[in-house]
Amino acid sequence: MPIVRRWVPSLLLAVVILTLFYHASQYRSDLDSPIKQNIPGTPRPHSGGHFNWAGRVQHYPVTQLTHLPREKPKRLPPVQYTFRRESEQFRSQRLQRREVVKQTFQKCWQSYKTKAWMKDELAPISGRGRNAFGGWSATLVDALDTLWIMDMTSEFEIAAAAAKGIDFSTSTDETINVFETTIRYLGGFLAAYELSGSIGMLDKAVEVGEMLLVTFDTPNHFPITRWKWENAVEGVRQVTPDWMLLSELGSLSLEFTRLSQLTNDMRWFHAVDRITKLLEKQQMQTKLPGLWPVVVDPRNENLTSDTAFTFGGMSDSAYEYLPKQFALLGGVSSEYQKMYERAMATAVDALFFRPMTPNGDDILISGDARIADNGSAPELKPLGQHLGCFAGGMLALGGRLFSNQDHIILGRKLTDGCIWAYKAMERGIMPEIARFVPCESKDTCVWEEKKWHAAVLAKPAPSGEVRVAQEVTRQKNLPEGYADVLDKRYILRPEAIESVFIMYRITGDKRYQEVAWEMFTAINDVSKTELANAAIADITRPKSEGEAPKQDRMESFWLAETLKYFYLIFSEPGLISLDKYVLNTEAHPLRRPV
Ligand SMILES: *[C@@H]1O[C@H](CO)[C@@H](O)[C@H](O)[C@H]1NC(C)=O
Ligand SMILES: *[C@@H]1O[C@H](CO)[C@@H](O)[C@H](O)[C@H]1NC(C)=O
Repeated sequence: MPIVRRWVPSLLLAVVILTLFYHASQYRSDLDSPIKQNIPGTPRPHSGGHFNWAGRVQHYPVTQLTHLPREKPKRLPPVQYTFRRESEQFRSQRLQRREVVKQTFQKCWQSYKTKAWMKDELAPISGRGRNAFGGWSATLVDALDTLWIMDMTSEFEIAAAAAKGIDFSTSTDETINVFETTIRYLGGFLAAYELSGSIGMLDKAVEVGEMLLVTFDTPNHFPITRWKWENAVEGVRQVTPDWMLLSELGSLSLEFTRLSQLTNDMRWFHAVDRITKLLEKQQMQTKLPGLWPVVVDPRNENLTSDTAFTFGGMSDSAYEYLPKQFALLGGVSSEYQKMYERAMATAVDALFFRPMTPNGDDILISGDARIADNGSAPELKPLGQHLGCFAGGMLALGGRLFSNQDHIILGRKLTDGCIWAYKAMERGIMPEIARFVPCESKDTCVWEEKKWHAAVLAKPAPSGEVRVAQEVTRQKNLPEGYADVLDKRYILRPEAIESVFIMYRITGDKRYQEVAWEMFTAINDVSKTELANAAIADITRPKSEGEAPKQDRMESFWLAETLKYFYLIFSEPGLISLDKYVLNTEAHPLRRPV
């Protein structure tokens, strides 16, 4: 024993020296790398890295922690359809398709491994590495659970071992996006732990969680979502901003709650519970009661001023997390059900519209609403965002959890809206943002070409202007029903397949597998590169003019979400059953309590 003790100090010293040397050499090789000049931001190792977030002195210590609900989890209604045995023919086709999805993933993963290992992203055309999310190997962490799900266990082990070395006490970015860090890194580690049981992954989740908690060290304990971490290291007093996006404030709950459940340390649950209480308190005081606006003010704890409302970008997951958090808490916190039901009741009238289509399809799209100062009714903007395509899955899941058949129907119609928006486009993929033609009524809607032309021209089209409208639709390559495309990109996003997957698991309808295969084929055809898959700069480009132009980006959600959902829809329904897991907004499965 004494001998061991005498050895400990020198051993420690050796470890410290080796660690410093390792980090110094990493830093240097980063600078030497020819890739470097293309990566935004410069490496900022802080005092040699390994700042201990957990040991940082708090300026505003929390005195009493809210505890997770102590009631036993309730038995909630089943989410998934009771699947029957499938025919041999179905099975073999399904598995063939699944194999193609897996091969696509494997190709991307191998390229990431050889060309961009430990970087946030692989640049899929140039083959470079790129840091875009703190420089903590976003693609690696985000893909951990997909590796496990796809049965690539030896690759998982390699990636998990590498992930243990990621240093969250320093960053390549000056400003850290707390929302992205939570959903991709914290969510990624939590799911890797849930599936593999590897305690090292939970340790990393805690490490990220300790860092994220520091963003709550403000006078009123609301977080700083765009965070200058170096100030925090230096001990500067922080204050939460008076301007923040709803999704960035409202989508931390699942990950923080799960971390508290797994560690029995209430600090994380306490932090997000404060946000929930404010959301609940002011939900009916906003300019469109039931919904919270895109921009909120946590410094003054005021969510009521802004006039813009949407389920699209900058808000989306704040709503998505309501039914999911209800499930994750075992159904014992009724406030999430209440908030979900109030929000959906308003959204049905204010956000959802039926787009006019040539076949009169009975479908819905979730648009935007704005409130004018003069107190008139909310103005609907008939936009459809790809990001908003998650809404169908949310309504269907809520419909199951709260036994509300109407919501399942709404979920079906919203999902079908995105499926239509995909199919209508020449390349079979919905663009990032488009404008449609809203029907007067959600019950019936007859196609009127004149009305479409007027919408294309954004003004009434007298008969003489038909030629002008036709010219515009040709020039913009707009299919019938599309009035305009405001953002022509498709950046490998998952929201449409996410809802298709959830609808499949809830209804058992094989039509969704056919749709999924069409979507996958369309996406892979247009986005594949020699190395991986790339974002598309203009999905509207006519086929007659050649390939759709690509961007040198492959965000980590392609491997974390899009390909995972495609793989799961062709898998046995027991794999990541929605009765056992909720998936965070980055598709990381978190286990529901039993
Ligand atoms: C929020 O701010 C608005 C405008 O300044 C004010 O009218 C309202 O009373 C405030 N609401 C709350 C709950 O503080
Ligand atoms: C209120 O303002 C909106 C947008 O500025 C306008 O379209 C609408 O006609 C106005 N309503 C009334 C009643 O003045």
